[in-house]
Amino acid sequence: MTDRTVATDLALRPWSVDDLWLLERLMGDPATTVHLGGPETPEKIRRRNADYSVTGEAGSGAMFAIIVGPDGDVAGSVGYWPGEWLGETIWEIGWSVLPEFQGRGIATAATSLVVARASAEGLPRAIHAFPSVENTASNAICRKVGLTLRGECDFEYPRGSWMRCNDWAVDPDPPSAV
Ligand SMILES: CC(C)(COP(=O)(O)OP(=O)(O)OC[C@H]1O[C@@H](n2cnc3c(N)ncnc32)[C@H](O)[C@@H]1OP(=O)(O)O)[C@@H](O)C(=O)NCCC(=O)NCCS
Repeated sequence: MTDRTVATDLALRPWSVDDLWLLERLMGDPATTVHLGGPETPEKIRRRNADYSVTGEAGSGAMFAIIVGPDGDVAGSVGYWPGEWLGETIWEIGWSVLPEFQGRGIATAATSLVVARASAEGLPRAIHAFPSVENTASNAICRKVGLTLRGECDFEYPRGSWMRCNDWAVDPDPPSAV
């Protein structure tokens, strides 16, 4: 863990169809998907890229490319989307950073921004993340961005495949008094 300065120079850019190459690297590689059920097929990645690129209505979430440094390097992906958990509609958040950018605080900084964006939607939804219990870095990120560990759970990801995960969450802000 050396240069952590880049994390202070970080922005989120809405996902574009032209980011397919990024998704191919993040979701098509055995190393970056070791805690995500393994590499996805090229077809699945193309569909995921199309879904990420859609700017939906309020409540449908958003995906971003993580941009870092003075040259605007693309370092990874981060975002939030609606999910169902224990009978409630929640925001689920997720992140992924290219190997050459890891270890600089980028995922932590980007996830912090996404938690703020999901909260700013003003919907009465808790924000959850479900990293594998074995994903040391992602569990550290959850703790550092202020999520609370609710406990272990069995989580389906990808569809049809179950993983032992930690449930990290933060409750929505209470409605402001008028
Ligand atoms: C998980 C991942 C996003 C971390 O990205 P990153 O930018 O390197 O993370 P950060 O630099 O913000 O580090 C976050 C914390 O994890 C720790 N960490 C980073 N890489 C680690 C590793 N390989 N092993 C153990 N801890 C690690 C860091 O030390 C830091 O904790 P600290 O501040 O207490 O020291 C990245 O490894 C990745 O993309 N992995 C593959 C995809 C994935 O698993 N996504 C998450 C699904 S829930």
